[in-house]
Amino acid sequence: MALLEVQNLKTHFHTQDGLVRAVDGVSLNVEAGKTVGIVGESGSGKSVTNMTILGLVPTPPGIIDADAILFEGQDLRSLSKEQLRKLRGNRIAMVFQDPMTSLNPFLTIEDQLTEPLLIHKGQNMDQARQRVLQLLKEVGIPDPQSRLKDYPHQFSGGMRQRVMMAMALVCEPSLLICDEPTTALDVTIQAQILELLKRIQKEHGTTIIFITHDLGVAAGFCDEIYVMYAGRIVEHAQTDELFKTPLHPYTASLLKSVPRLDQEASEAFVTIQGSPPDLTALPAGCSFQPRCDHAISRCETERPTLEEREGNHSRQCSCFVDLRGEVKS
Ligand SMILES: Nc1ncnc2c1ncn2[C@@H]1O[C@H](COP(=O)(O)OP(=O)(O)OP(=O)(O)O)[C@@H](O)[C@H]1O
Ligand SMILES: [Mg+2]
Repeated sequence: MALLEVQNLKTHFHTQDGLVRAVDGVSLNVEAGKTVGIVGESGSGKSVTNMTILGLVPTPPGIIDADAILFEGQDLRSLSKEQLRKLRGNRIAMVFQDPMTSLNPFLTIEDQLTEPLLIHKGQNMDQARQRVLQLLKEVGIPDPQSRLKDYPHQFSGGMRQRVMMAMALVCEPSLLICDEPTTALDVTIQAQILELLKRIQKEHGTTIIFITHDLGVAAGFCDEIYVMYAGRIVEHAQTDELFKTPLHPYTASLLKSVPRLDQEASEAFVTIQGSPPDLTALPAGCSFQPRCDHAISRCETERPTLEEREGNHSRQCSCFVDLRGEVKS
């Protein structure tokens, strides 16, 4: 049984400009112990997908619909607000893009990190403090004892991200959702944080959903990857398979824009022409079609569905070169 199974999730927003189809029929299957990447350009619906799963999208303005959102076999939509709150930070934790938006600037690190242990685990302050010290050490905060009374602004960006990681791990969640945890950091710190995540996963068997717009980062870190475009999953495969045989033109274009060591110096980086569609006025057919070099006339009118191919590889496209290299017409 998958740890998390999401079927046909839709999250739309009523706005003055019309209905924003931020997430439009997303299905995910996350097996325990795996690292699953969700990759896509800015605005493709990565964060909204995960916020919806966690029950963090207010309705209204959000309108949520799904066939199922199962965590450990239980439908999260059947839980009360209180039950969901208990699950978050306890069994499922999230590391957000910008630590300053999730760390409370008015509370010391000790107060913030011990709170979930006092609330969810019923520990006393001494037990909680010991656990927090152990965790801060684990995530690489030097001399954690001397930092307990510090406030978030007294930490550097990289250190704040580590504190966030410690906060997410404090109750030993089985699922950790990392939403662009390294985007705001320089590459050296980014590599350290990824290393840390890998170590945590190895030691605790944590399942990770890793959200990023950077296919290069996802390549080195994830077992499998879901590619999102305009609120939909356009391709899903094991990471090796996705890099070897991309089956969607969008993935293929993303891959061409990732620097590779085996690339000839003379080969230019390719950028994807155009920009993502307006989510209030999606094209009638394929959402990527206006930017696609392979589009044929039926792409303008026919909305492709996600089709399963060989080797647990699926894609949502009706015209691209198929597995045998033939162009379907
Ligand atoms: N409350 C809201 N009301 C209206 N539109 C919203 C709301 N929240 C999100 N959106 C829209 O939903 C779309 C998807 O947003 P989301 O934050 O999931 O993108 P993302 O893939 O995480 O992008 P990024 O890489 O920039 O973080 C965006 O167009 C965003 O403007
Ligand atoms: Mg986001």
